[in-house]
Amino acid sequence: MPSSFGDGVALTRVCDYEGGASLWKASLRGMGEYEISEWNEDDPRWSEVVGFFDRHCSGLPELVDGYDQRDSRVLVAHADRAILGVLRLIVIPIGPEDDLPAVRIEGEEVLQAKIKNFFVLPEFRRRRIGTSLQEKAVELAKSLGCRQLVSFSYSHSRENHALKLQMGFAVRPERRGSERHGLYFTMPLG
Ligand SMILES: CC(C)(COP(=O)(O)OP(=O)(O)OC[C@H]1O[C@@H](n2cnc3c(N)ncnc32)[C@H](O)[C@@H]1OP(=O)(O)O)[C@@H](O)C(=O)NCCC(=O)NCCS
Repeated sequence: MPSSFGDGVALTRVCDYEGGASLWKASLRGMGEYEISEWNEDDPRWSEVVGFFDRHCSGLPELVDGYDQRDSRVLVAHADRAILGVLRLIVIPIGPEDDLPAVRIEGEEVLQAKIKNFFVLPEFRRRRIGTSLQEKAVELAKSLGCRQLVSFSYSHSRENHALKLQMGFAVRPERRGSERHGLYFTMPLG
């Protein structure tokens, strides 16, 4: 089913998350098509993703330090064999991140998806690629049984703040180390 992602962009789901595969195609006015798909280490082009993370996101460690990580997924926006942007999320329990007990409902641990990397190449920004990656992260997190999609953002990431607020994420201020004006974003997943 085609879905609209703003001026000049039309996104069409071409297959579902069933079986782990996912792919969306989008047309960007004046620059052909790009796709968003989930890639993993079995993909023949995985080394390109690793290289992209090395260049733009301080690497792609299997386990992110300091988290009780249950899963890790990478969404890639790509066109003409070039990677335009990436989003990595990890699945973690709610609570231990803040040194608190895990939230449980009827004894079951409640999980959340946390975005750890989110980057679009500067020359392709303001074309809704970042929004499309976040939209796909919402769908992916739901499919992984997560209750919410969250991220922490430093005060300098103004574009990210604007994007998250435009998408309807809830926000609260958070101090973290020397960062006194960070923002913590949460999207509940119905
Ligand atoms: C944050 C980032 C991924 C956004 O990617 P993007 O593809 O440009 O985002 P979109 O085109 O989907 O932007 C959606 C909306 O967000 C807001 N926005 C994005 N960039 C903005 C900017 N520079 N100034 C003001 N608003 C901005 C706008 O409301 C925009 O909608 P509009 O273009 O219709 O006005 C990109 O700017 C980036 O890679 N920044 C550096 C890395 C980073 O800060 N990552 C997040 C923290 S880990």
